[in-house]
Amino acid sequence: MGAMSTTNGRARVLAVLGGERPDRLPLWLMRQAGRFLPEYRAVRADVPFLDLVRSRSLCTEVALQPLRRFDLDATIVFSDILVIPDALGAGLSFEKGDGPKIERPLVTDEAVEALAWDGVCDRLGYVYDAVKDLRAAAPDHALFGFGGSPWTLFCYLTQGQGGGEFASARAALWAHPERSRMVLDRLADAVAEHLVRQARAGADVVQVFDTWGGLLPAADYEAIAAPGLRRITKRLAAEGIPAVLYVRAGAHLVDVTRNLGFSALSVDSTVDLAHLHGIPTQGNLDNTRLLGGREAIAEGVARIGAALGGRRNHIVNLGHGVLPSTPPDAVSVLVDEVRRLG
Ligand code: CP3
Repeated sequence: MGAMSTTNGRARVLAVLGGERPDRLPLWLMRQAGRFLPEYRAVRADVPFLDLVRSRSLCTEVALQPLRRFDLDATIVFSDILVIPDALGAGLSFEKGDGPKIERPLVTDEAVEALAWDGVCDRLGYVYDAVKDLRAAAPDHALFGFGGSPWTLFCYLTQGQGGGEFASARAALWAHPERSRMVLDRLADAVAEHLVRQARAGADVVQVFDTWGGLLPAADYEAIAAPGLRRITKRLAAEGIPAVLYVRAGAHLVDVTRNLGFSALSVDSTVDLAHLHGIPTQGNLDNTRLLGGREAIAEGVARIGAALGGRRNHIVNLGHGVLPSTPPDAVSVLVDEVRRLG
């Protein structure tokens, strides 16, 4: 395919997802709005995280912060994958330093039925309002909406607290297979609806975050995680919405995940990009390289360039979110190095 005359980030990202060649590799960073930016910490000093997520004006402000500093090609609505458990009434809180906590984990059939499954997205209007405002504020950037994968949401909802390897969530799969299947199916429908509504509000593309998919062996991923993801991509395809699947630590899952109907796979640094062709890709750069100075960043970018060879159907990103300790200048270095690849 010939080079399209793509002139902004939005066109570049959509070119990659649509199988066209962008004029240069697009770039954005997972968690680009967040604690590594002093201006984000200043906003957060006065507002609890969930209040920030629910504030229409502050969501736009913090999503725009990285775009003011860095020449990035995409923006992502400021929200969280756990807004769905929150809107289901599971009792979400973020305790300082402890990560998320679910007050009423899904450990009985009664706990499942006690959640407000009907009309869950009607209680997430603040997310769609935030998408709408960000669309207007960043018209030349590709706008990502997002949601958690059914499996990753199942992990948080079942275990309640203290992630680790989510042993109790995984154990529930075998101890309570029917309940688990039902929860995964209901989550898939909720996530699909949530993503469709973000696209209708102005998102160009939606990303499904499967942070804990890598905990499952490939055969279990196919049996347990994949059906919900197929349900989601079927719905998105019917609406013509491009979708990216991010799986952390999922190098062993690529033969499954590439066949789930997503437009692109976002991979962490354990995947060898040189062995992943035939589908657009995203990610791959080890986020700790941003803590290692220019050489470490340049080498990581050069390695991605080498693995891609001549192909340009890749969106440069990290393998996992920006770490809070990342010096903002490291992101400027990354942008420069990526632009040198063309
Ligand atoms: O620019 C962006 O990407 C911001 C939007 C965004 C957030 N969370 C904001 C956030 C996105 C895309 C997410 C996704 C998310 N949330 C995932 C999947 C991606 C991944 O990182 O694996 C997961 C697993 C969550 C759940 C979650 N949210 C956890 C485990 C935590 C606590 C750990 C932490 O990093 O603090 C959060 C909180 C959270 N979500 C923060 C941000 C900016 C930090 C909140 C703060 O300001 O204290």
